[in-house]
Amino acid sequence: MRPPVVAEYTLSSTEAEHIQSLAESLDVGSVDDERFLTRAAVWAGELPRNLRAFLEDFRATEGSPACRVAGLPVDSERMGPTPVVAGRRRSKAASEIRAELVAVLLSSCLGDVFGWRLQHDGLLIHDLAPRPEHEDTGLGTGSRQHINWHTEDSFHPCRADYVGLLCVRNPAQVPTTIGFLDISLLSDADRRMLAEPVFTFKPDPSYFVSDAEPFPGPDRGSILYGDSADPYLRFDQDYIDLPADVAGVEDAVACLRRAIEVNLIHLSLRSGDFLFLDNRRAVHGRASFQATYVGTERWVKRVNITSDLKRSRHLRGSASDRVIRV
Ligand SMILES: [Fe+2]
Repeated sequence: MRPPVVAEYTLSSTEAEHIQSLAESLDVGSVDDERFLTRAAVWAGELPRNLRAFLEDFRATEGSPACRVAGLPVDSERMGPTPVVAGRRRSKAASEIRAELVAVLLSSCLGDVFGWRLQHDGLLIHDLAPRPEHEDTGLGTGSRQHINWHTEDSFHPCRADYVGLLCVRNPAQVPTTIGFLDISLLSDADRRMLAEPVFTFKPDPSYFVSDAEPFPGPDRGSILYGDSADPYLRFDQDYIDLPADVAGVEDAVACLRRAIEVNLIHLSLRSGDFLFLDNRRAVHGRASFQATYVGTERWVKRVNITSDLKRSRHLRGSASDRVIRV
């Protein structure tokens, strides 16, 4: 039987209380504290064993392209209103810092968390909450535009292996889109064409800070890679250039899109849900919604996780620095 698109784990109340106690026992003021980050994997060893086993199965077997842990201790009432200001300019309640510590501990079961200097002020945890100035953009901080399904940061060789989305609140039940490639729907010719390194992957506008900042460049590569019988995927329909001189490439990409879209699911995250996406196998997006900016609407915390921190060593200040300068 085929594994589910989203593997599910629901914490018992005992497990949730244990995780809450663990977070409270950590004397840490911010997840961006380097001392915390170098010990996060050690503390993650104190998470409930069944939860760690679930995440390890997800990581090691690649059975499902996504998984959800439900019932995490996220005290959305105490965390205050959904922020309309992002980045370092915002002070956080102790309950919010604890939720972020929990996010990093669970993420550490899959790899190392990291951030981008040009995204969300270089923070390791991004607040995906609607901002008025982004209302009509396809950014995570937008609202009126739906976000087309995509591989996260497809343009960058050091992109996340996993993306974590911890839901603080989602009262309007705005759906997150999740999809994966059904490789059996692609012909051998299409598979070969999509595995050619002739595609140009471009950064999205979330990396644009100001005219004075260097905007990261595009990267060339293939859409499919890894095992040809069960390939990994790199694709963002809005930020890719197809080669002009390759016959049949547009048809191959159209077939790829169909082979993903037939299996799209729409999942409404609830408070305390932590969704992990395998960024090599799953694509994700988000439906549009009407933002009101009164502090009660959708608020999701995003975490980037890498299986191999060394891959970006040349783009970080030191071995323990988790922020990539692009
Ligand atoms: Fe995304």
